[in-house]
Order: sequence, then C-alpha cells, then structure tokens
Amino acid sequence: MEQVTKQRSIPFIDLHAQQSRIRPSVEERIKKVLDHGKYIMGPEVKELEQRLAEFVGVKHCVTCASGTDALLMPLMAYEIGPGDAVFTTPFTFISTAEVITLLGATPVFVDIDRQTYNIDAAKLRDAVKKVTAQERLNPKGIIPVDLFGQPADYEEIEHIAADFDLFVIEDAAQAFGAIYKNKHACSFGDVASTSFFPAKPFGCYGDGGAVFCDDDQMDERLRSIRVHGQGSDKYDNIRIGINGRFDTIQAAVLLAKLEIFEDEIQLRDQVAKRYSEKLAGSVVTPMVKADRTSVWAQYSLLTENRDKLLEALKSSGIPTAIYYPKPLHLQEAYRSLGYRRGDFPVSEKIADQIFSIPMHPYLSEEDQDYIVEAIKGFMG
Ligand SMILES: Cc1ncc(COP(=O)(O)O)c(C=O)c1O
Repeated sequence: MEQVTKQRSIPFIDLHAQQSRIRPSVEERIKKVLDHGKYIMGPEVKELEQRLAEFVGVKHCVTCASGTDALLMPLMAYEIGPGDAVFTTPFTFISTAEVITLLGATPVFVDIDRQTYNIDAAKLRDAVKKVTAQERLNPKGIIPVDLFGQPADYEEIEHIAADFDLFVIEDAAQAFGAIYKNKHACSFGDVASTSFFPAKPFGCYGDGGAVFCDDDQMDERLRSIRVHGQGSDKYDNIRIGINGRFDTIQAAVLLAKLEIFEDEIQLRDQVAKRYSEKLAGSVVTPMVKADRTSVWAQYSLLTENRDKLLEALKSSGIPTAIYYPKPLHLQEAYRSLGYRRGDFPVSEKIADQIFSIPMHPYLSEEDQDYIVEAIKGFMG
C-alpha cells in the first residue's frame, strides 16, 4: 500500500466557493425581500415558479417547504390511502417511501439496476403483475428515483404505468437539471418532485422543494394542499392539506443561483468525467446511460474494501459519505412490511460497497488529483 503523506482538508461540498461567486446578487435579492416584507409566498416565489417551469419545460411549478412535501402533496392529490400500493426502490433516501406510509398506503419495493442504481424496469413490471394477481393491495402508482442525479428509465416505466393504469411521480430530488432523451428531469411521469435542500445540485439556504406538472387540475389541487387545503381563501378549507408553503427569501436565493446553474452543471460534469477517467480500473466508477445526463448530486464509487479505504481517505483529510448504507427494506421503520435480507440482492450488494467522494462545481484539479492518488495509492 502506497503511503499518502500530504495532508489537507477538502470540503465534501463547497457552498462557500459558490456563494462568493453570487454573493452580490443574493444580497441584492434578499434586500428586496426585506424591503417588501412578504416573507412567505411573496413575489419572488411566483417569479421562481415561472422560471423553473420554463427551465424544465412543463406548464406548472408549485414550490413548497421541502422535497419531502413535494412528494407528499401529489400523493395527497391522488388521495392515496390504506390498501393502496405504490412501487418504489429500497435504495433511496427514506422520504421517498415515508410519504407513502404517512398516508396509510404501502410501499412495495422493487430492486435496482446494478449499473445505474435506479429502479429496474423489468423487475418493476414483474412486481406490479404480482401485486395485481395477489389482490391484497390496489396498485396505484410508481415513484421512480433519479438517484445521484441520473434520471431513471422513464420510457419503460411510463409503458408499465400505462399498461396497469398507474400514476408516476418522478422523485427528482437529486436530479434537477439532468436530461433524459432531450427533456429535462422533473418533466417525466404525471408529476415530478424536487428538493432544494442546501446540498442538492440546485439548493437554497434552508429547506425547500417543488412539484412540476402539466395538468391544470393537479396544479390546482397541489396549490390547495400546500396551504391547508384552501379553497377560495385560506379560511375556506375544501380538503385536508398541509403547511407546505415556501419562504420568499429562499426563492430569492434560488433566483440568484439560477443565473449560474447551467454553468455549474457543466463544471460538475467536467469534475465527474475527470474522476471517471482517472479512477477507471481501481474502483467501479459510475455509469451514465448514453441517452441521459447526470447532475452528479453524488459521485459514487464501489469497492469491496470500503471500510479500510474510507479510513485511509479520512486520515488523508478526504471526506466521504455513504449513500445509502442500509436499504429501506432492512430499516427498523419498515420491519412491519416483512421484508428480509436477500429480498433485493442488488440494493443490498450496492449498499455494502458504495461510497461517495467530494463533488461540487468548484473542486480544483489539484484537489481532485490528490483524492484520485489517495484512492489509487490505497487500492494498489
Ligand atoms: C431521493 C430523495 N427524495 C426525497 C428527498 C427529500 O428532500 P428534502 O430533504 O428536501 O425533504 C431527498 C432528500 O435528500 C432525496 O434524496
């Protein structure tokens, strides 16, 4: 094993570098909010919704308080409840499945593709057939996840949805800005959700999220659910909703970030391509299918020797993270669903081997080379 002697401190995500680039614009926009004082659902929220709908290429954007609410609200709009089945993957952040459970419905997990880590469309079709034949749950919808920034296989997924009359909610929490077959992420399925959590590729300075759709009725329902199921005004409640409103200051931050977002996507891609070229052969590098792009919410690698490698990287000042160490079907919170180790072998294997290394648009070539050398030095 080659000893790495240099020591430095590299951030996993560098929001400071980004902020120094847009600070005047952020300050100017926040100042405007302080001046008008409409702190919740103010004019910047409306402007952002218009800009994001245009960016994605859909009719409606409904911003909300988090990426989790952005998944919950469409499920509420579909009136999902006990006895309903919604299909998703066990290799995702808990939010994706949690919202299904919160409404009393049942998440039905489907294993992932071994190369993209997104839902395996062939296995999805089998799972839908099986649940339909069992007649215990009513299959209602699918929530594919665009994991680590790469869109799922929407062509196949939308065929399955059409064949079984299911809705599709694209969980694009990690993929805002990505492209699949010449269309932007957040334009797939019937409804799409994203997150503006600060560490996301398009993040604000607090919690936030958005839902995207083309359907006017869905848009109307989402806007009502976002504010306690309001009707003609906020004291007219026509359905049960939530407090899912978005803060104006966060919208102002995102408007500033939108100015540099396309450039940042390019920079992220350059960092990822450079990593992949240099690391090929020592660890398993990420695979992005030819008909799509990733926005690299995470740059994730696989190795069987993960624990020791991560220890070595830590001692060289290189931060790492594991997304996700335990698939959802093995979580205590989902014990009642009765899944066992071995049910989703691909998710389990990937969970045992995956790790992510620093990824952001401002990662210098020097820091990148240092990270690459530390990994290669350890792997021998
Ligand atoms: C795949 C996925 N779905 C949903 C969410 C929820 O987003 P938020 O943290 O904004 O509620 C996240 C956030 O990490 C996510 O990664």
